[in-house]
Amino acid sequence: MRKAAFDEVAPDYDDRFSNQPITQHLRHHLHAKATAYLPPQARILEVGCGTGVDAAHFAAQGHFVMATDPSSEMLQVARNRRAPDHGRFEIWNADAPPPQVLARYSPYDMVFSNFGAVNCISDLGAFANRIAPLMRPNAVVFIVVINRWCLSELILNLALMNRKNLTRRWRKHTTATLEDGTKLALHLPSVNDLTSAFSPHFKLQKTAPIGVFVPPSELYQSYQKRPKLLRMAYWLDQRLGPVWPFSKLGDHSLFVFQRTDTRPAAT
Ligand SMILES: C[S@@+](CC[C@H](N)C(=O)[O-])C[C@H]1O[C@@H](n2cnc3c(N)ncnc32)[C@H](O)[C@@H]1O
Repeated sequence: MRKAAFDEVAPDYDDRFSNQPITQHLRHHLHAKATAYLPPQARILEVGCGTGVDAAHFAAQGHFVMATDPSSEMLQVARNRRAPDHGRFEIWNADAPPPQVLARYSPYDMVFSNFGAVNCISDLGAFANRIAPLMRPNAVVFIVVINRWCLSELILNLALMNRKNLTRRWRKHTTATLEDGTKLALHLPSVNDLTSAFSPHFKLQKTAPIGVFVPPSELYQSYQKRPKLLRMAYWLDQRLGPVWPFSKLGDHSLFVFQRTDTRPAAT
């Protein structure tokens, strides 16, 4: 079987990222925001679920999650997380699930995707066309996308005079290098790109910055050794994060789109 980009990093992904206190802080914040859109016992389709942290969270809240990802190694970690007390989530390799499997639990109340999985999708218009018929009218797409302009990364790379890293996000299409050296095509859509890709079926409801003053993930370890600095970053995120221009300068951005077309959902 062909290896997927995240297969090699999967065994260490939780240690390096998901289990880091900064990630847990950001996820906690995102879970609260997502929950506000969910009816009780909602049906969620998760795209790029990775090691299943969010799927396990929502399943434990009594929702049903259809969790998908193209990396079988990430999915293996997710499968191991699927303890009985985590409620129900079903896992499928995103390259494999036939439309009838995705449709099995439709209509979905939410399509959820966290921490940049959507940046791996090259054709967002096709993606929007594919998910819309699986969703009930007024259901939401809740996606957390890597942002092109990230304040903490700009400051850091200006201070280090690292031109390569300073400008690495400034393109619509770029290549990221994972910890094991694997190269990954990454797409960095603007608000307009996303809005127009989703426009035939969805309208933009909300955007919010995620992680403006907290450092990018490669600096998590060093910040976490400085609890005062970290507390200050959280405080600034809360107070100044929503204020322009900081609102445009998060490491990630949250987008919430609402399904507007009323064609019946596929069953
Ligand atoms: C940075 S990880 C985020 C994982 C998880 N959402 C989280 O919050 O930890 C990006 C994930 O996107 C997945 N991915 C890569 N290409 C994808 C695609 N075309 N469609 C959906 N997911 C993709 C990867 O396998 C990986 O698990």
